[in-house]
Amino acid sequence: MHHALTVLNRASLRRRFDAYADVPWDEPDMTFDLDDPRLELPVSDPLGATDWYRSQPAETRRRLGLHFVCAQLRVGMDFEAVLSEGLLELGRTLELEDPARRYVLHEVIEEAQHTLMFRELILRSGLPTQGLTGLDRLHSYTVPKLARSFPEYFFFFVLGGEAPIDHAQREALRRRGEVHPLIERVMRIHVTEEARHLSFAEGFLRERVPRLGRARRAFLAFRVPIILGEMSKRMLEVPGWLAREYRIPSAVRREAYRQGPLHDARLAAGARSVRRLVEDIGLTGPVTDRLWRHWRITAPDAHARALA
Ligand SMILES: [Fe+2]
Ligand SMILES: [Fe+2]
Repeated sequence: MHHALTVLNRASLRRRFDAYADVPWDEPDMTFDLDDPRLELPVSDPLGATDWYRSQPAETRRRLGLHFVCAQLRVGMDFEAVLSEGLLELGRTLELEDPARRYVLHEVIEEAQHTLMFRELILRSGLPTQGLTGLDRLHSYTVPKLARSFPEYFFFFVLGGEAPIDHAQREALRRRGEVHPLIERVMRIHVTEEARHLSFAEGFLRERVPRLGRARRAFLAFRVPIILGEMSKRMLEVPGWLAREYRIPSAVRREAYRQGPLHDARLAAGARSVRRLVEDIGLTGPVTDRLWRHWRITAPDAHARALA
């Protein structure tokens, strides 16, 4: 881990972005305009693929497409706040010489830039958004404390917040030219820096989980699929407040998120790197695998094998 951290620390200096200097916010083609078809949800999106969505007026399709991106970024801002608080907590437990003590600060700085960037994009859309609500919100205040008492558990929350959205953003970036340039720029900066964050979290878990006692390992094996399943849902499905605002019928949400193969494939793809990690560090077993299937976060082929 020591060498990997030195590499990460150097990379944090080489490729870094500023939320204002590196995004051309005021260039004319960066404004959001409901005449722009690039704001629509693509057919590869489970909701975008429904007949209900396709039969909406063009302006509604675009407004909802943009609104969904803003809703995701708003939840992303909350996740990043939880992550940053936890990293600061963790940093204080580490030796001054430990390169991880430096790395967590690079990561906090980057998350602050992301949060600035997300906030600016949401404000420019002019659309109202909500972050985490209810129990999720309450829970989000306790998670950072774990970084001190049970850091391995904390880092699985980190992966739950970062892995599914990272995958969704990479998928969107592959549709070059079909994504609004401002959204594309913000996503590109984000995935570049997230790659380092994911590698730090994974490296930390690979090193530390095998040293844990049996009880904590069993606890993690049981909790990880639940965390990952819940957090993927929060990030990849249209939240209730947005569904109400656009009067999306519940049958349409079921069709998009409970019945179709598109959403399952996306959930599994977003969880794939975490699944590989838990297999490598021995946090799987027949009982907990059922939880992975219940949350539909195992790869479709593994899913099919399990059913056979
Ligand atoms: Fe971020
Ligand atoms: Fe991150």
